[in-house]
Amino acid sequence: MSINILGIESSCDDTSAAVISDGVIKSNIIANQDVHKQYGGVVPELASRAHQQNIIPVVDTAIKQAGLTPDDITAVAFTRGPGLLGSLLVGSSFAKGFSLAQKIPMVEVNHLHGHVMAHFIKENTDDINQPEFPFLCLLVSGGNSQLIMVKDYLETEIIGSTIDDAAGEAFDKCAKIMSLPYPGGPLIDKLAKEGNPDKFKFSKPRIDDYNYSFSGLKTSFLYHIRDNIKTNPDYIEENKADLCASLQKTIIDILMDKLDKVIKDNKNIKEIAVAGGVSANSGLRQALIDYGNKKNLKVYIPKFEYTTDNAAMIAITGYYKYMKGEFASQDIVPKARL
Ligand code: KG4
Repeated sequence: MSINILGIESSCDDTSAAVISDGVIKSNIIANQDVHKQYGGVVPELASRAHQQNIIPVVDTAIKQAGLTPDDITAVAFTRGPGLLGSLLVGSSFAKGFSLAQKIPMVEVNHLHGHVMAHFIKENTDDINQPEFPFLCLLVSGGNSQLIMVKDYLETEIIGSTIDDAAGEAFDKCAKIMSLPYPGGPLIDKLAKEGNPDKFKFSKPRIDDYNYSFSGLKTSFLYHIRDNIKTNPDYIEENKADLCASLQKTIIDILMDKLDKVIKDNKNIKEIAVAGGVSANSGLRQALIDYGNKKNLKVYIPKFEYTTDNAAMIAITGYYKYMKGEFASQDIVPKARL
């Protein structure tokens, strides 16, 4: 009999449900919340309310699209954190209710672990395109920038983290400075394609270890705009593509420099992977491919639908935890920070 895991993801502003059967993806439904666009960022209270409205239809669609009924689900996996507490509460409460009603086990998943595990989602039973342990994963999202040694499905070690802003935050905050809508990352990526990445120089952090920092870059970008706009009010409009291309190049250089440092220090690493929302960035994808070719490393880049928040990554993590018997109890509480 198949092991069918229902995954629930509600850590920020996407309500998502997915079904994975024996490690193979059957459905992955994501309801985005457009309500935040007008505020230039996610409004936590509005996110929780939208999750409440979305969760039942999203789960219903995911189970139906998988060709199953609730009685076919073996276990329910949910994001425990990190994320917005009100948003996490909706997903975890739903998982508890579903687990009780269906008399099935519940599995808690760390959202960041889920991003890494997206590389193990099989498209079909013959899919063997998966990284081999140990590999290095660059996790870059709106809330995190981490370098993670992945030793096994459930064994990971964070060897570097951002000490201030995340890479996605740097994209979004600099986009806001240019009055671009939220989230700015995808738009900067698009505009950068038309611009000159070497036109402007922005500051890069000087940190010795594997940690990241993006707040200095954000400040240098802000001052650059502020100074130039004084003499030319149309400065942003006239230089938008070059500003985006130069900013994107700086962010990618910062990410790749630290990744290179880890690879130089760990000769046993032969494979690298990228995960999280910023891994959708076309410049970063290309930089990783070029780096892999140069260093003879195998590079794993997730499909676009598994880069931003999605429940398929929660379901696949839930699947491996279920196989090890790692279940959660009904008194578990979500955590904004994990
Ligand atoms: O992983 P994710 O969906 O949510 C978090 O868990 O944070 O990541 C969202 C982040 C946002 O900062 C967004 O601007 C960024 O990913 N992002 C991109 C691109 N697509 C999404 N950043 C740069 N280029 C992109 N193409």
